[in-house]
Amino acid sequence: MLRRPRRNRKSAAIRAMLEETQVQTRHLIYPLFMIEGRNQKVEVASMPGQYRFSTDLLLKEIEECLRLGITTFDLFPAIADAKKDKEASLSYNPDNFYLQAIRQLKRELPEACIMSDVALDPYNSDGHDGLVRGGKIVNDETLEVLGKMAVAQAEAGVDILGPSDMMDGRVEYLRNALDEAGYTEVSIMSYTAKYASAFYSPFRDALDSAPRSAEGIPGDKKTYQMNPANQREALIEADLDVAEGADMLMVKPALFYLDVIKLLKDHYDLPIAAYNVSGEYAMVKAAARQGWLNEEAVMKESLLSIKRAGADIILTYFAKEFARLQAGR
Ligand code: PBG
Repeated sequence: MLRRPRRNRKSAAIRAMLEETQVQTRHLIYPLFMIEGRNQKVEVASMPGQYRFSTDLLLKEIEECLRLGITTFDLFPAIADAKKDKEASLSYNPDNFYLQAIRQLKRELPEACIMSDVALDPYNSDGHDGLVRGGKIVNDETLEVLGKMAVAQAEAGVDILGPSDMMDGRVEYLRNALDEAGYTEVSIMSYTAKYASAFYSPFRDALDSAPRSAEGIPGDKKTYQMNPANQREALIEADLDVAEGADMLMVKPALFYLDVIKLLKDHYDLPIAAYNVSGEYAMVKAAARQGWLNEEAVMKESLLSIKRAGADIILTYFAKEFARLQAGR
């Protein structure tokens, strides 16, 4: 036998030397949920280890994460039902608790890089990412709200906007709105290939933001999020996002869509991000609780696989756990 591949696996030293892929804490973005109030830290039932934080405790959490080497945080507000309306008007009100919190955060922890979703769902009484009018999710009218939201977030100090709504033309619309308002330095990480996935339900529990059937529209997002059966359609979305001025492209979910991550990595020069979503997190937690999987090993292998498929950046609820292990704490 001339070729014995096992020779390259024979010792820890050789295995480490030949390791192709590495995940480091600086590659991870930590999504965090927020609620209005003080001194609140409420666990999300379907996401053990993830909480909704009031602003005071969020600041403490972010400070701790910064010490562990996490640099970037994606913040999501849970809005009380009574404050939602069909126009999602709270989304661009500069006095809403979310934008106030971001202002305070950027003042007190300026080194934290802050990302924020641009989509209507947390603020919309219909639970959809776009406006529901006349029995449809209306695209172009939604862009106007997204534009106001983006500028309000930029004004509050958000570093990276994440349009997650899947309306057509939104990246260009937001880029223009930001530039006209003088926010040329604010980045756009587009949710480029965002699938109509069943893996978002724990996130929707966290924000109480499940899409509702309204005006005859079903309670799903299939007219704007992509069909999980389609791979090539991701290229159409990516072409548009590149042309429209996106700085980074995202694939979501991650683990079940590694082929799409690889496809975008092979076709585009922009950094590729992948969102290891709430359902992917919940599955690992549930199996680990049953004693059926080794949580730490599965977490590491999951993140490694997403990176190996081509993701430069991973948004993951495991960020803090991973960072702790890396930091030996
Ligand atoms: C909102 C949004 C969703 C997620 C991120 N932004 C849910 C959805 O589109 O319904 C999902 C994140 C996760 O499941 O972890 N537009």
